[in-house]
Amino acid sequence: MDMRFDNKVVLVTGGGGGIGRASALAFARAGAKVAVTDRDLAAGEEAAAQARALGAEALFVAADVMRAADVQSMVAQVVAHFGRLDCAFNNAGIEEEHMRLADCDEATFDRIMGVNVKGVWLCMKHQIPQMLAQGGGTIVNMASAAGLVGAPKMSAYSASKHAVIGLTKSAAVEYGRKGIRVNAVCPGWIRTAMLERALALEPQLAAAGATLHPIGRIGEPEEVAAAVLWLSSDAARFVTGLAHTIDGGLTSM
Ligand SMILES: NC(=O)c1ccc[n+]([C@@H]2O[C@H](COP(=O)([O-])OP(=O)(O)OC[C@H]3O[C@@H](n4cnc5c(N)ncnc54)[C@H](O)[C@@H]3O)[C@@H](O)[C@H]2O)c1
Repeated sequence: MDMRFDNKVVLVTGGGGGIGRASALAFARAGAKVAVTDRDLAAGEEAAAQARALGAEALFVAADVMRAADVQSMVAQVVAHFGRLDCAFNNAGIEEEHMRLADCDEATFDRIMGVNVKGVWLCMKHQIPQMLAQGGGTIVNMASAAGLVGAPKMSAYSASKHAVIGLTKSAAVEYGRKGIRVNAVCPGWIRTAMLERALALEPQLAAAGATLHPIGRIGEPEEVAAAVLWLSSDAARFVTGLAHTIDGGLTSM
């Protein structure tokens, strides 16, 4: 089955950070032209430079996925530069500081929803017309194991990731006959800056990480990237509307 992306144009949001950067580089290794986007300019530029060092054509576009104007301009810049958009990985997301639901303030709730839910919605809203115009495409949205089960002290985050799965399934149904496949990935704990921030808040959880996952360890960004590439590839051409766990068995318990 074809897992190459030669001549395909791929867009990765939050591509400057852990899972996004690993995915952008995996796409680059698989032959794709890669557009890395992030609100962190230095991290995004660095990831695009790494993709170029792997021999890929790569572009960095600064965009905050929470801002409609940024997202519209992001898609327009990618299409102006590369001529099309074949695969999107809407990965950018944030977490709240660990707190119980009743202690979460309104601004925090709105910020989590703004990036994790509205951000994914805005990205699809602007990617889908381009994919329709060119006859198809693939979208992978970043959910989480916390989008399938509750997450203590991360209720806003968990709600936002459940919502991403709702957006994903609805879009998959709406656009299936138009040649656009839409899936989500649901990672367990993955070794990134986001996980480091969480463990800094609750250091006692560090030891629990391995135990919580039946495979006996936490995951690596490259292991999520592998699933993103599969879902974006022709090998998964009959797969749409899937919330795909990459969680070492975490949600099977
Ligand atoms: N690390 C985990 O354990 C884990 C598990 C499940 C799901 N996830 C999800 O994976 C995604 C990536 O997480 P990560 O662990 O790589 O995080 P990270 O913090 O290491 O990287 C996230 C990247 O997204 C960028 N970003 C954040 N908000 C943005 C915005 N509004 N617009 C544009 N870019 C923005 C950041 O600048 C950063 O480069 C997130 O959606 C996260 O919720 C992570």
